[in-house]
Amino acid sequence: MADKDHVLIFDTTLRDGEQSPGATMSHDEKLEIAELLDDMGVDIIEAGFPIASEGDFEAVTEIAKRSKDAVICGLSRANFKDIDRCWEAVKHAAKPRIHTFIGTSPLHRDIPKLSKDEMAERIHDTVTHARNLCDNVQWSPMDATRTEWDYLCRVVEIAIKAGATTINIPDTVGYTAPRESADIIRNLIEQVPGADDVVFATHCHNDLGMATANALAAVEGGARQIECTINGLGERAGNTALEEVVMALRVRGDIMPFKTGIATTKLMHISRRVSTVSGFPVQFNKAIVGKNAFAHESGIHQDGMLKNAETFEIMRPEDIGLSETNIVMGKHSGRAALRSKLEELGFDLADNQLNDVFVRFKALADRKKEVFEDDLIALMRDQETGEEYDRIKVKFLRVICGTEAPQSADLTLTIDGEDHQTTAQGDGPVDATFNAVKSLFPHNARLQLYQVHAVTEGTDAQATVSVRMEEDGRIATGQSADTDTVVASAKAYVNALNRLLVRREKSDPDADVKQVSYKDAG
Ligand code: KIV
Ligand code: ZN
Repeated sequence: MADKDHVLIFDTTLRDGEQSPGATMSHDEKLEIAELLDDMGVDIIEAGFPIASEGDFEAVTEIAKRSKDAVICGLSRANFKDIDRCWEAVKHAAKPRIHTFIGTSPLHRDIPKLSKDEMAERIHDTVTHARNLCDNVQWSPMDATRTEWDYLCRVVEIAIKAGATTINIPDTVGYTAPRESADIIRNLIEQVPGADDVVFATHCHNDLGMATANALAAVEGGARQIECTINGLGERAGNTALEEVVMALRVRGDIMPFKTGIATTKLMHISRRVSTVSGFPVQFNKAIVGKNAFAHESGIHQDGMLKNAETFEIMRPEDIGLSETNIVMGKHSGRAALRSKLEELGFDLADNQLNDVFVRFKALADRKKEVFEDDLIALMRDQETGEEYDRIKVKFLRVICGTEAPQSADLTLTIDGEDHQTTAQGDGPVDATFNAVKSLFPHNARLQLYQVHAVTEGTDAQATVSVRMEEDGRIATGQSADTDTVVASAKAYVNALNRLLVRREKSDPDADVKQVSYKDAG
């Protein structure tokens, strides 16, 4: 039974989010994000799809073992093998949940070639099986919003009778609109026998840009669980963004009187972490967590803000964990100031880590007049590698570039402690540099993504470069920041290569290509 005013937050960043092409996270990254979600007050964490790969299974198992307050949920298709595998992983949690789903719309029913009756029987059998293993079972009719109404009511009733405790209504292809989203939930609650005994959940995709509106409308219709991801990460246009629904409910409690248990001051930090580990940048004007979400450029706005912040701000930056001012640090700032600023940004460092960052902070402050919060975050991202990720290092780089092609790069790499030097040419300085890396360390990895963005403004701004590489189905993302874009590019490329090497050598479970198709829900 749902608490009338409380909306449960179900985060699926590690399952639906991670499923989006290129957003693969490593085992350790998944554990870190799960811990942050748990600490932030997320009610249910969907930690993965255990049958999809060894890597998913191990991550869900470990997240379950380490969980604190959150329910840990795993996804499974509608068959006993999937459900058993899911249970094997989530059973270690203090509060486990099995989530099982099947595509119920005509198009999805056609894939496993099941008649309506055969599918109904499958739903009954699989939910019963899941419920015999676990007290907490969620069932989803995939593509619910394009399922015939009578059939949707029929299968929801079967799932409730078979023991499902949460019924999730996915708008799998982002097709619904707010009024319809509310009506579907309201009518299901009114028409399906037993509906009062379960929690209804809403799971929206953002293909038409309505995921947040649809999720909130579903709550007005009676849903008491919102499924969402940090930064709206997810397949295609993504899922409902957690930070958006949580802040909307908080800011507009006057017209949407519902509470969540989310500590909103942790939103900004987790948004940055998810962006870093997934390699998916947050668009500047993204609601709540975008770089410009609280920036006021125009004269009229700035004037109003100075007189009374409420003139143009409906929430305070500190509500989401942004400090009031973007305090500038410089080369005279000391270790204590750096520690306190980093703590404010959500980075808790051991003394040796602080020493290392401090050295790099000083080097940056020598090259850059003012060091902003974003610079410090970029610096922290840069240091998120351990020794094992340091087999290849950039020792020296000089590029010759100009209007005359070709450009050339003179590069020295330290590989397993030994220096190797070469000069390579290319179509532009970055291409020349990457060619030089490849000639010193030949490999078959394919460059999937190369992205540059300026951390702050000004010609001395640091550039953050993300490089994503793929080799035999393994994907690794490297990042680096430097005031020199080509140096940042070289380091990011080498960083991605190091990560691929670790995966290759340890035959990292994350390296597995997903073995099952999520679409094949039969
Ligand atoms: O979008 C969807 O239908 C899903 C289900 C597996 C719940 O992610
Ligand atoms: Zn989904």
